Amino acid sequence: MSTINVGIIGFGTVGAGVFEVLCANRDMIASRVGAQVVVKRIADLDITSDRGIAFQPDRSLFTLDALEVIHDPEIDVVVELIGGLETARTLILEAMKTGKHVVTANKALLAECGPDIYRTAEAYGVGLGFEASVGGGIPIIGALKNGLSANRIQTCIGILNGTSNYILTRMTQEGLPFSDAVEEAVRLGFAEDPPTLDVNGTDAAHKLAIIISIAFGEPVSFKDIYREGIVAVTPDDIRFADEFGYGIKLLAIAKDLGDRIEARVHAAMIPKDHILANVNEAFNAIYLEGDFVGPNLYYGLGAGRRPTGSAVASDIIALARDIRCGNRVRIPPLAHVKAPIRDIVIQPIQDLVTPYYFRVSALDRPGVLSRIAGILADHQISISSVIQKGRGRKGPVPIVMLTHEARERDVQKAISLIDDLDVVPEKTVVIRVEGGQP
Ligand code: HSE
Repeated sequence: MSTINVGIIGFGTVGAGVFEVLCANRDMIASRVGAQVVVKRIADLDITSDRGIAFQPDRSLFTLDALEVIHDPEIDVVVELIGGLETARTLILEAMKTGKHVVTANKALLAECGPDIYRTAEAYGVGLGFEASVGGGIPIIGALKNGLSANRIQTCIGILNGTSNYILTRMTQEGLPFSDAVEEAVRLGFAEDPPTLDVNGTDAAHKLAIIISIAFGEPVSFKDIYREGIVAVTPDDIRFADEFGYGIKLLAIAKDLGDRIEARVHAAMIPKDHILANVNEAFNAIYLEGDFVGPNLYYGLGAGRRPTGSAVASDIIALARDIRCGNRVRIPPLAHVKAPIRDIVIQPIQDLVTPYYFRVSALDRPGVLSRIAGILADHQISISSVIQKGRGRKGPVPIVMLTHEARERDVQKAISLIDDLDVVPEKTVVIRVEGGQP
């Protein structure tokens, strides 16, 4: 049986997971590939610490020099797991130019510098795997490139950030304020300290950009995706959402509108009986609709050594299969051999049409509700339900409303006028609603 050699650059949590799964399931993987898949070199700045995995790499595998891995003529597949942008980009491009196939988990790099990397892979005829960049252990990239390849993807709604999902779950279950839930997530190892890119929507936007790029065959920059995080979500809003029959999740949403694509990441209210409302803790899930397949749901762990190691190893196995069959890369990075039929135009957020939740903090006086309702009516915003809490309280009381479908541009104008009223001392909270009525 022939051997396919792998070099790993970056031997942190994920790198150790890749090594572990390739060793633990070595014979089964060899049987599936038709060749032995062997880690031949590992580059890392720390070549002595015990990574706490069941299989210890031989000391002779390690080097401090990533270029030694890239320029080893026996290595077929280079795995980049150092993260970050510039060094990772340079190493990946160098590996490709040296004729190596590349696997990476680096979503930020693909979401920011994707075109350069995809072009180089195609120009040098090498494969690029990035299954681990979205959804950790969930094989969503493989599903888009293979299982769903006959479909136009019409809708994607994802819970793509496990940290935010964990925080929102704890806020919902325990009534914790955001800051306490973050502190708990950091303490228990579910979040980085501080988890800025997770809670401000950037990480989910990186992943959504990758999903859209494959679904439509053209690289999309995450910068073109509207994003808000979960920092402004309060336990009060979670409670009011619950009274209306909704949960609050950080959603990454893409919809094919025909001439444009809706792409946005923000906290959203979703009916409690929607399947995504029941994805809790640090789990990820992706709900897709294809024009022929209909609805599809993917669920699993979005991070961690073993799930992410499994995803990286699946890319290595896919490339190893191509190598065994003569080194022909069958599937280009974005799974489109020709340029897509149409350009991707992302719809500006101001054009979004969706139902909304508003929590207005207003003084409890006669006529206040009618002034607010008047402003909404002037902007073609129709209220579907309203609750006012805390009659008799001193200071402002919450007036909580759900609207029928309204246009974001109108909502922003109306809310700014409402917030200017002398009877509205605090900024109104606005949360978009997704997934229909409960
Ligand atoms: N930080 C990410 C999350 C995991 O919280 O989901 C890696 O993509």
